[in-house]
Amino acid sequence: MRIIILGAPGAGKGTQCKRVVEKYGLQHLSSGDILRKNRAGGTELGKKAQSYMDSGKLVPDDLIVEMMATAISQSPDTGFVLDGFPRTVNQAEELDKALEADGKKIDAIINLKIEDDVILGRMTGRRSCPKCGAVYHIKNLKPKADGKCDKDGTGLIQRPDDTPEVVKQRLETYYEQTEPVVGYYKNNGCVIVLDAGKSADAISSELFETLDALAGN
Ligand code: AP5
Repeated sequence: MRIIILGAPGAGKGTQCKRVVEKYGLQHLSSGDILRKNRAGGTELGKKAQSYMDSGKLVPDDLIVEMMATAISQSPDTGFVLDGFPRTVNQAEELDKALEADGKKIDAIINLKIEDDVILGRMTGRRSCPKCGAVYHIKNLKPKADGKCDKDGTGLIQRPDDTPEVVKQRLETYYEQTEPVVGYYKNNGCVIVLDAGKSADAISSELFETLDALAGN
């Protein structure tokens, strides 16, 4: 199964993708996570991406398309879930070309729809594990021990782009450049919209129901 999960920053894409990956055995292809790994590893791509990410702007399409096309071409036959990509109409068009070249197709496009006023609280309260990438929230999804990852006990950190100023810019960027991607897919096929304002568990059960139906389970 190959899935795209769309949604504004903080809609819960990463949270739901991790659950989908666990349940269906897919590969999680998160453009944000791949970029953050490149930054942590000090690669050329990481260095080029840094200033865009820290200011809430999009990293240039050519860098992203090459990075994600490579990840897709190396993905297992069981499938993948795309998180944070495509984020511009140009990226969506390039994804179509890359999939066609690989003889692959997308089975479902899910849009997690959320109101802006919920987003700020979600993002400023987000904490993540720098070791395994697990994501928590100081109020909504607390770790068992304060400030420590449930899986490996590592101290949780706040992402540098989760400050109120950068979140505001990320939302502007989303409405200008990424929301048109939803329109692109609506014109070319079907987009399943889920209410991302619900609890993480309620969204997961709707999402699993949708994916089970697609998989014929
Ligand atoms: P990226 O890492 O992709 O960030 P994003 O899209 O802004 O999404 P987030 O990771 O912030 O949010 P999310 O929707 O995954 O929410 P989460 O599940 O964590 O991109 C970062 C940067 O990289 C970009 O700004 C850009 O510079 C660059 N970039 C990446 N991809 C690019 C591309 N394709 N092109 C160009 N540039 C690119 O949840 C958020 C919080 O809410 C968590 O604390 C979570 O615990 C909590 N939460 C989740 N669900 C719920 C719920 N239902 N109820 C209550 N709380 C919840």
